[in-house]
Amino acid sequence: MSGRVLVVGLGPGPDRWRTPEVSEALAIATDLVGYGPYLDRCPERPGQARHGSDNRVELDRARLALDLARAGRTVAVVSGGDPGVFAMAAAVMEALDADPSARALDVTVLPGISAMQAAAARLGAPLGHDFCAISLSDNLKPWPLVVRRLTAAAEGDFVIALYNPASKARPTRIFEAFDLMRTLKAGATPVAFARAVGRPDERLIVTTLAEADPSVVDMATCVLIGSSESRFIPRPDGARPWLYTPRSAPVSGSGVPSGDPAPSGDTAPSGDTAPSGDTG
Ligand SMILES: C[S@@+](CC[C@H](N)C(=O)[O-])C[C@H]1O[C@@H](n2cnc3c(N)ncnc32)[C@H](O)[C@@H]1O
Repeated sequence: MSGRVLVVGLGPGPDRWRTPEVSEALAIATDLVGYGPYLDRCPERPGQARHGSDNRVELDRARLALDLARAGRTVAVVSGGDPGVFAMAAAVMEALDADPSARALDVTVLPGISAMQAAAARLGAPLGHDFCAISLSDNLKPWPLVVRRLTAAAEGDFVIALYNPASKARPTRIFEAFDLMRTLKAGATPVAFARAVGRPDERLIVTTLAEADPSVVDMATCVLIGSSESRFIPRPDGARPWLYTPRSAPVSGSGVPSGDPAPSGDTAPSGDTAPSGDTG
Protein backbone atom coordinates (compact mmCIF):
# COMPACT_ATOMS: atom_id res chain seq x y z
CA MET A 1 0.00 0.00 0.00
CA SER A 2 1.69 3.19 -1.13
CA GLY A 3 -1.00 5.74 -0.27
CA ARG A 4 -1.13 7.84 2.85
CA VAL A 5 -3.64 9.56 5.08
CA LEU A 6 -2.73 12.91 6.66
CA VAL A 7 -5.27 14.00 9.25
CA VAL A 8 -5.06 17.78 9.54
CA GLY A 9 -6.74 20.67 11.37
CA LEU A 10 -6.97 24.15 9.87
CA GLY A 11 -7.05 25.96 13.22
CA PRO A 12 -10.07 27.94 14.37
CA GLY A 13 -9.78 30.94 12.09
CA PRO A 14 -7.19 32.72 10.03
CA ASP A 15 -4.60 31.04 7.82
CA ARG A 16 -1.77 32.22 10.05
CA TRP A 17 -3.07 29.92 12.78
CA ARG A 18 -2.55 26.94 10.46
CA THR A 19 0.74 25.18 11.12
CA PRO A 20 3.36 25.05 8.33
CA GLU A 21 3.21 21.25 8.56
CA VAL A 22 -0.52 21.33 7.80
CA SER A 23 0.02 23.72 4.88
CA GLU A 24 2.61 21.29 3.48
CA ALA A 25 0.18 18.39 3.84
CA LEU A 26 -2.51 20.33 1.97
CA ALA A 27 0.00 21.11 -0.78
CA ILE A 28 1.08 17.50 -1.35
CA ALA A 29 -2.35 15.85 -1.02
CA THR A 30 -3.86 14.43 -4.17
CA ASP A 31 -7.24 14.32 -2.43
CA LEU A 32 -8.95 16.41 0.25
CA VAL A 33 -11.70 14.81 2.29
CA GLY A 34 -13.83 16.81 4.73
CA TYR A 35 -16.86 18.85 5.63
CA GLY A 36 -17.54 21.22 2.70
CA PRO A 37 -16.98 24.55 4.54
CA TYR A 38 -13.60 23.32 5.79
CA LEU A 39 -12.53 22.33 2.27
CA ASP A 40 -13.54 25.82 1.12
CA ARG A 41 -10.85 27.19 3.47
CA CYS A 42 -8.09 25.14 1.76
CA PRO A 43 -6.05 26.73 -1.04
CA GLU A 44 -7.03 25.62 -4.54
CA ARG A 45 -4.49 23.34 -6.18
CA PRO A 46 -4.77 22.17 -9.82
CA GLY A 47 -5.45 18.48 -10.14
CA GLN A 48 -6.34 18.00 -6.49
CA ALA A 49 -9.63 16.15 -5.98
CA ARG A 50 -12.03 17.43 -3.32
CA HIS A 51 -14.47 15.13 -1.60
CA GLY A 52 -16.74 17.41 0.42
CA SER A 53 -19.56 16.04 2.52
CA ASP A 54 -22.12 16.89 5.15
CA ASN A 55 -20.97 17.28 8.74
CA ARG A 56 -22.94 14.26 9.97
CA VAL A 57 -21.09 11.58 7.98
CA GLU A 58 -17.73 11.54 9.70
CA LEU A 59 -17.28 7.79 9.63
CA ASP A 60 -18.20 7.53 5.93
CA ARG A 61 -15.66 10.25 5.25
CA ALA A 62 -12.98 8.40 7.21
CA ARG A 63 -13.69 5.15 5.32
CA LEU A 64 -13.48 7.03 2.01
CA ALA A 65 -10.08 8.40 3.04
CA LEU A 66 -8.81 4.89 3.82
CA ASP A 67 -10.15 3.58 0.50
CA LEU A 68 -8.46 6.38 -1.43
CA ALA A 69 -5.17 5.74 0.37
CA ARG A 70 -5.48 2.03 -0.40
CA ALA A 71 -5.73 3.02 -4.05
CA GLY A 72 -2.41 4.84 -3.72
CA ARG A 73 -3.65 8.40 -3.16
CA THR A 74 -2.23 10.91 -0.67
CA VAL A 75 -5.29 11.98 1.25
CA ALA A 76 -5.63 14.96 3.59
CA VAL A 77 -8.60 14.54 5.94
CA VAL A 78 -9.52 18.08 6.92
CA SER A 79 -11.02 19.32 10.20
CA GLY A 80 -11.34 22.75 11.76
CA GLY A 81 -9.24 23.54 14.83
CA ASP A 82 -7.23 20.55 15.99
CA PRO A 83 -8.18 17.27 14.27
CA GLY A 84 -8.01 15.38 17.57
CA VAL A 85 -10.54 17.56 19.43
CA PHE A 86 -14.14 16.60 18.59
CA ALA A 87 -13.04 16.05 15.01
CA MET A 88 -11.87 13.68 12.30
CA ALA A 89 -8.83 12.04 13.91
CA ALA A 90 -11.09 9.93 16.13
CA ALA A 91 -13.28 9.01 13.14
CA VAL A 92 -10.21 7.86 11.19
CA MET A 93 -9.08 5.80 14.19
CA GLU A 94 -12.57 4.33 14.49
CA ALA A 95 -12.49 3.34 10.81
CA LEU A 96 -9.04 1.77 11.27
CA ASP A 97 -10.24 -0.07 14.36
CA ALA A 98 -13.10 -1.59 12.35
CA ASP A 99 -10.97 -2.47 9.32
CA PRO A 100 -7.88 -4.59 10.07
CA SER A 101 -6.97 -4.60 6.37
CA ALA A 102 -6.37 -0.84 6.51
CA ARG A 103 -3.99 -0.88 9.45
CA ALA A 104 -0.86 -1.14 7.29
CA LEU A 105 -1.70 2.21 5.71
CA ASP A 106 0.57 5.15 6.46
CA VAL A 107 -1.63 7.35 8.66
CA THR A 108 -0.36 10.53 10.33
CA VAL A 109 -2.29 12.91 12.59
CA LEU A 110 -0.91 16.46 12.53
CA PRO A 111 -1.56 18.74 15.51
CA GLY A 112 -3.47 21.99 15.15
CA ILE A 113 -4.72 24.87 17.29
CA SER A 114 -8.02 24.14 18.96
CA ALA A 115 -10.77 26.72 19.51
CA MET A 116 -10.34 26.73 23.30
CA GLN A 117 -6.64 27.60 22.92
CA ALA A 118 -7.37 30.48 20.58
CA ALA A 119 -10.17 31.71 22.85
CA ALA A 120 -7.91 31.41 25.90
CA ALA A 121 -5.16 33.41 24.22
CA ARG A 122 -7.57 36.24 23.41
CA LEU A 123 -8.95 36.29 26.95
CA GLY A 124 -5.70 36.03 28.93
CA ALA A 125 -4.97 32.64 30.48
CA PRO A 126 -8.23 31.00 31.61
CA LEU A 127 -6.80 27.51 30.99
CA GLY A 128 -3.76 28.16 33.18
CA HIS A 129 -4.71 25.39 35.60
CA ASP A 130 -6.65 22.13 35.36
CA PHE A 131 -9.39 22.22 32.76
CA CYS A 132 -11.59 19.93 30.68
CA ALA A 133 -13.43 20.16 27.38
CA ILE A 134 -16.99 18.94 26.99
CA SER A 135 -19.06 18.91 23.81
CA LEU A 136 -22.67 19.85 24.47
CA SER A 137 -23.80 18.03 21.35
CA ASP A 138 -25.98 15.05 22.08
CA ASN A 139 -25.87 13.84 18.48
CA LEU A 140 -23.15 11.31 19.30
CA LYS A 141 -23.87 10.67 22.99
CA PRO A 142 -26.93 10.73 25.24
CA TRP A 143 -27.76 13.97 27.07
CA PRO A 144 -27.71 12.29 30.54
CA LEU A 145 -24.01 11.56 29.93
CA VAL A 146 -23.41 15.25 29.17
CA VAL A 147 -25.17 16.14 32.43
CA ARG A 148 -23.05 13.61 34.34
CA ARG A 149 -19.83 15.03 32.91
CA LEU A 150 -20.84 18.65 33.48
CA THR A 151 -21.68 17.78 37.09
CA ALA A 152 -18.38 15.96 37.62
CA ALA A 153 -16.43 18.82 36.04
CA ALA A 154 -18.14 21.37 38.27
CA GLU A 155 -17.66 19.24 41.38
CA GLY A 156 -14.01 18.72 40.46
CA ASP A 157 -13.65 22.52 40.13
CA PHE A 158 -12.19 22.30 36.62
CA VAL A 159 -12.27 25.20 34.21
CA ILE A 160 -14.73 23.96 31.61
CA ALA A 161 -14.52 24.58 27.86
CA LEU A 162 -17.84 23.90 26.15
CA TYR A 163 -17.73 23.01 22.46
CA ASN A 164 -20.76 22.68 20.17
CA PRO A 165 -22.83 24.66 22.68
CA ALA A 166 -25.85 25.24 20.42
CA SER A 167 -27.15 24.65 16.93
CA LYS A 168 -30.46 25.15 15.14
CA ALA A 169 -31.39 21.57 16.06
CA ARG A 170 -30.19 21.97 19.68
CA PRO A 171 -31.04 25.53 20.71
CA THR A 172 -31.85 24.84 24.37
CA ARG A 173 -29.08 22.58 25.69
CA ILE A 174 -26.86 25.55 26.58
CA PHE A 175 -29.65 26.94 28.78
CA GLU A 176 -29.97 23.56 30.51
CA ALA A 177 -26.19 23.47 31.00
CA PHE A 178 -26.17 26.95 32.56
CA ASP A 179 -29.13 26.11 34.81
CA LEU A 180 -27.16 23.10 36.05
CA MET A 181 -23.91 25.08 36.50
CA ARG A 182 -25.77 27.69 38.56
CA THR A 183 -26.78 24.97 41.05
CA LEU A 184 -23.17 23.76 41.37
CA LYS A 185 -20.91 26.81 41.12
CA ALA A 186 -20.78 30.29 42.63
CA GLY A 187 -22.61 33.07 40.80
CA ALA A 188 -19.37 35.09 40.67
CA THR A 189 -17.62 32.40 38.60
CA PRO A 190 -16.15 34.03 35.46
CA VAL A 191 -17.69 33.04 32.14
CA ALA A 192 -16.52 33.87 28.62
CA PHE A 193 -18.40 33.51 25.36
CA ALA A 194 -15.79 33.44 22.60
CA ARG A 195 -17.41 33.54 19.18
CA ALA A 196 -15.68 33.08 15.81
CA VAL A 197 -12.28 33.66 17.37
CA GLY A 198 -9.75 34.82 14.79
CA ARG A 199 -12.41 35.57 12.17
CA PRO A 200 -13.71 38.97 11.06
CA ASP A 201 -16.93 38.47 13.04
CA GLU A 202 -15.13 37.57 16.27
CA ARG A 203 -17.00 38.54 19.44
CA LEU A 204 -15.78 38.09 23.01
CA ILE A 205 -18.03 38.54 26.02
CA VAL A 206 -16.81 38.17 29.59
CA THR A 207 -19.31 38.00 32.41
CA THR A 208 -20.19 35.93 35.46
CA LEU A 209 -22.22 32.78 35.81
CA ALA A 210 -24.99 34.73 37.56
CA GLU A 211 -25.22 37.32 34.80
CA ALA A 212 -24.41 35.23 31.73
CA ASP A 213 -27.01 35.20 28.96
CA PRO A 214 -26.64 31.93 27.03
CA SER A 215 -28.80 33.26 24.19
CA VAL A 216 -25.65 34.87 22.70
CA VAL A 217 -24.28 31.41 21.96
CA ASP A 218 -24.28 29.79 18.53
CA MET A 219 -22.41 27.04 16.68
CA ALA A 220 -19.31 29.20 16.29
CA THR A 221 -18.98 29.84 20.02
CA CYS A 222 -16.65 28.26 22.55
CA VAL A 223 -17.82 28.85 26.12
CA LEU A 224 -15.38 28.95 29.01
CA ILE A 225 -16.62 28.60 32.58
CA GLY A 226 -14.01 29.30 35.24
CA SER A 227 -12.97 27.37 38.32
CA SER A 228 -13.29 28.83 41.82
CA GLU A 229 -9.80 30.32 41.28
CA SER A 230 -10.44 31.95 37.90
CA ARG A 231 -10.59 35.71 38.09
CA PHE A 232 -10.63 38.98 36.16
CA ILE A 233 -7.95 41.68 36.06
CA PRO A 234 -9.57 45.06 35.37
CA ARG A 235 -8.01 47.18 32.62
CA PRO A 236 -8.16 50.92 32.16
CA ASP A 237 -10.28 52.87 29.70
CA GLY A 238 -13.13 50.37 29.56
CA ALA A 239 -10.99 47.66 27.99
CA ARG A 240 -12.21 44.11 28.42
CA PRO A 241 -10.69 42.69 31.61
CA TRP A 242 -8.17 39.89 31.38
CA LEU A 243 -9.45 36.50 32.50
CA TYR A 244 -7.01 34.03 34.00
CA THR A 245 -6.70 31.02 36.26
CA PRO A 246 -3.62 31.11 38.49
CA ARG A 247 -0.98 28.42 38.15
CA SER A 248 -1.51 27.23 41.73
CA ALA A 249 -4.60 26.39 43.74
CA PRO A 250 -4.77 26.82 47.52
CA VAL A 251 -4.62 23.73 49.75
CA SER A 252 -7.78 24.82 51.59
CA GLY A 253 -10.88 23.61 49.78
CA SER A 254 -8.87 21.36 47.49
CA GLY A 255 -9.66 18.12 49.32
CA VAL A 256 -5.96 17.64 50.14
CA PRO A 257 -5.62 16.65 53.83
CA SER A 258 -4.02 19.55 55.73
CA GLY A 259 -1.12 17.33 56.93
CA ASP A 260 0.03 16.70 53.37
CA PRO A 261 2.74 18.93 52.04
CA ALA A 262 1.52 21.29 49.36
CA PRO A 263 2.87 20.60 45.89
CA SER A 264 6.06 22.53 45.37
CA GLY A 265 5.19 23.72 41.87
CA ASP A 266 5.93 22.21 38.50
CA THR A 267 7.64 25.02 36.70
CA ALA A 268 11.01 23.99 35.38
CA PRO A 269 13.79 26.55 35.92
CA SER A 270 13.81 27.58 32.29
CA GLY A 271 10.03 27.94 32.07
CA ASP A 272 7.22 25.55 31.33
CA THR A 273 9.34 22.87 29.72
CA ALA A 274 8.40 19.85 31.83
CA PRO A 275 6.51 17.19 29.87
CA SER A 276 2.85 17.99 30.37
CA GLY A 277 1.12 14.81 29.20
CA ASP A 278 -0.92 13.96 26.17
CA THR A 279 -3.04 17.01 25.50
CA GLY A 280 -5.20 16.33 22.41
C1 LIG B 1 -17.07 20.01 15.84
S1 LIG B 1 -16.25 21.09 16.96
C2 LIG B 1 -14.67 21.12 16.23
C3 LIG B 1 -13.60 21.58 17.16
C4 LIG B 1 -12.26 21.73 16.49
N1 LIG B 1 -11.72 20.43 16.08
C5 LIG B 1 -11.25 22.44 17.40
O1 LIG B 1 -10.27 21.80 17.80
O2 LIG B 1 -11.47 23.62 17.66
C6 LIG B 1 -16.92 22.67 16.50
C7 LIG B 1 -16.98 23.62 17.71
O3 LIG B 1 -15.70 24.20 17.92
C8 LIG B 1 -15.84 25.50 18.44
N2 LIG B 1 -15.16 26.44 17.52
C9 LIG B 1 -14.61 26.15 16.33
N3 LIG B 1 -14.02 27.24 15.78
C10 LIG B 1 -14.24 28.25 16.66
C11 LIG B 1 -13.86 29.63 16.68
N4 LIG B 1 -13.18 30.20 15.68
N5 LIG B 1 -14.24 30.38 17.74
C12 LIG B 1 -14.92 29.83 18.77
N6 LIG B 1 -15.29 28.52 18.81
C13 LIG B 1 -14.96 27.75 17.77
C14 LIG B 1 -17.35 25.78 18.56
O4 LIG B 1 -17.74 25.39 19.86
C15 LIG B 1 -17.90 24.81 17.55
O5 LIG B 1 -19.25 24.49 17.81
